[in-house]
Amino acid sequence: MNETLKSISERYSCRDFEDTPLTKEQINAVVTSALASPSAVNRQPWQVIVITDKALIDELDERAMNVLALAEDKSGYERIKARGGKIFYNAPCMVLVASDGSNYASMDCGILSQNVSLAAHSLGLGSVICGMAGIPFGADGADELKKKLKFPEGYNFGIAVLLGKAKSSKPPHEHDLSKVTYL
Ligand SMILES: Cc1cc2nc3c(=O)[nH]c(=O)nc-3n(C[C@H](O)[C@H](O)[C@H](O)COP(=O)(O)O)c2cc1C
Repeated sequence: MNETLKSISERYSCRDFEDTPLTKEQINAVVTSALASPSAVNRQPWQVIVITDKALIDELDERAMNVLALAEDKSGYERIKARGGKIFYNAPCMVLVASDGSNYASMDCGILSQNVSLAAHSLGLGSVICGMAGIPFGADGADELKKKLKFPEGYNFGIAVLLGKAKSSKPPHEHDLSKVTYL
């Protein structure tokens, strides 16, 4: 199996990170891979916001947890509390992808997030794509938060990827062969 196929088949969602910060080289490689992503008509409808300030990641975590704590359905909040209380698993780096909302932008941002995950895996890092990072952007204070995170005007949360050295790992998920039709 070549290295690309190996990374694709080995990647898994990591939910347990060491504190160890990423090196400059690792961040550069991840960012380069993000920017290499394809997008509809090469529109590149994203802004890639690399957050390595742990205090800022913790602030986002706390904001998201506060929203979940106030939700009518508390199951999400209870589930996260039961497994350590951190939505972002203590990851030392978040690649937040802001989207301009244009046609295909969510797909483009999703593809970019997979490039980031695969690049991270190939560098020996753990990663998890994290939709829940969007929670604070749908709550009170979202505009002020977007300014703080330097979202370009008119951009909204697209997706995020958490990155770091894995503290523990798990096997990749089973392939569901019934999801393929051959004609
Ligand atoms: C768009 C998207 C959003 C996701 N959001 C979260 C999330 O907020 N938190 C989380 O722990 N995992 C999240 N995941 C990871 C999925 O749960 C994971 O990919 C899935 O369970 C399959 O496991 P695997 O990635 O280990 O193969 C997300 C994945 C995708 C593609």
